[in-house]
Amino acid sequence: MNILLIGSGGREHALAWRLAQSPLCARLFTAPGNPGTARHGTNRPDLKVSDHAAVAAFCAAEGIGLVVVGPEAPLVAGLVDDLTAAGVRAFGPTRDAARLEGSKGFTKDLCAEYGIPTAAFARFSALEPALAYVRARGAPIVVKADGLAAGKGVTVADTLDQAEDALAALFAEAGAEVVVEECLVGEEASFFALCDGTRAIPLGTAQDHKRVFDGDRGPNTGGMGAYAPARVVTPEIEARVMETIIAPTLAGMRARGCPFTGILYAGLMLTADGPKLIEYNTRFGDPEAQVLMPRLASDLVPALLSACDGDLSGVSLEFDPGRAALTVVMAAAGYPGAVVRGSVIRGVEAAEGEGVHVFQAGTRAEGGDLLAHGGRVLAVTALGDSVTEAQARAYAAVARIDWPEGFCRHDIGYRAVAREAEAAA
Ligand code: AMP
Ligand code: GLY
Repeated sequence: MNILLIGSGGREHALAWRLAQSPLCARLFTAPGNPGTARHGTNRPDLKVSDHAAVAAFCAAEGIGLVVVGPEAPLVAGLVDDLTAAGVRAFGPTRDAARLEGSKGFTKDLCAEYGIPTAAFARFSALEPALAYVRARGAPIVVKADGLAAGKGVTVADTLDQAEDALAALFAEAGAEVVVEECLVGEEASFFALCDGTRAIPLGTAQDHKRVFDGDRGPNTGGMGAYAPARVVTPEIEARVMETIIAPTLAGMRARGCPFTGILYAGLMLTADGPKLIEYNTRFGDPEAQVLMPRLASDLVPALLSACDGDLSGVSLEFDPGRAALTVVMAAAGYPGAVVRGSVIRGVEAAEGEGVHVFQAGTRAEGGDLLAHGGRVLAVTALGDSVTEAQARAYAAVARIDWPEGFCRHDIGYRAVAREAEAAA
């Protein structure tokens, strides 16, 4: 069958690479795509993803048997609803189901109703009661905008002043909806489950590095690197997450009339009281997909088809169990602030090799050159028998890339590497 992938980031390059390997995939199209996805299929930058009728017409014309949606915006805009209504098989949640990512308030209410462990919270639509609440609770405390904010709507306030400033800034906008939460303490991990509306199967774990600088300093970003698996999520914790977080979420979504089909990505805090949900995303992570895909030993396409068809009962996903994967994001100087585009990147092919992939995100091909064309530009990924080995191989590959205008963190995977050193000692 022919497959259409929606998106243009490093996540989509990793997905394109994986999807194109499937014996079930005849032709792969990516809209809009990037120079990385072009290596595994045909880019369609001309196809306007926000024009759902145009996407449906393209699918009919090209005999598309499966649409895979990478980013959250088209999900929240209802692309899957409109394609399904047009008779096109599309993988991902409906608009209503994507509220798990699109509305923090919706998710928090679901957690309260179904006893899903999460931070204690309150919702506000006016400044004064929110200020009174944070003054009563004290710092540290977490202030979040309700709705999609690309990770930038969250303030983990260490002081009451910071919390008050964050509230003032959010309520400066008319109609603001704000969630104030208890500050959870522990280690964070990303947990992925493939869902068919009723059932879920684990799709692996990873740890992202959200801050821009080494040592988890500086502002939050979309993610500066990741590794998989996150061994802090032991098999016991995984079972607990499936039972206390994922399963009741699917039951709650069914009860609300919007069963969840797609990737449920739970951001977890592993607290002393057990795993708690920080937030949901309703898609693959970026850069987490760049470490999940290389470890996946099974064909992804039949699993996605079974999920779309509402029956994952016969599906199991195998991972290369002994192997770890680690990805280092190379970003343009200035990221996550304003960046200059157009600098030349050399050495991508020299960096690639057995078990090493350079997934492209914000890149552009011009006259035989590869140019930087965004904030996060490359995700340099390596496999290894341990996180320590994957880290060494990924940084060796980074060293082969000649891009003076780019930068990366130098400590991706440090927690796992320290743990591996401790275990070996
Ligand atoms: P979010 O956009 O909700 O994932 O939040 C971004 C980051 O803020 C998370 O990855 C956490 O590091 C942090 N965070 C969010 N909520 C909490 C919380 N309740 N307690 C502690 N940290 C949090
Ligand atoms: N890496 C964080 C995200 O994809 O949301």
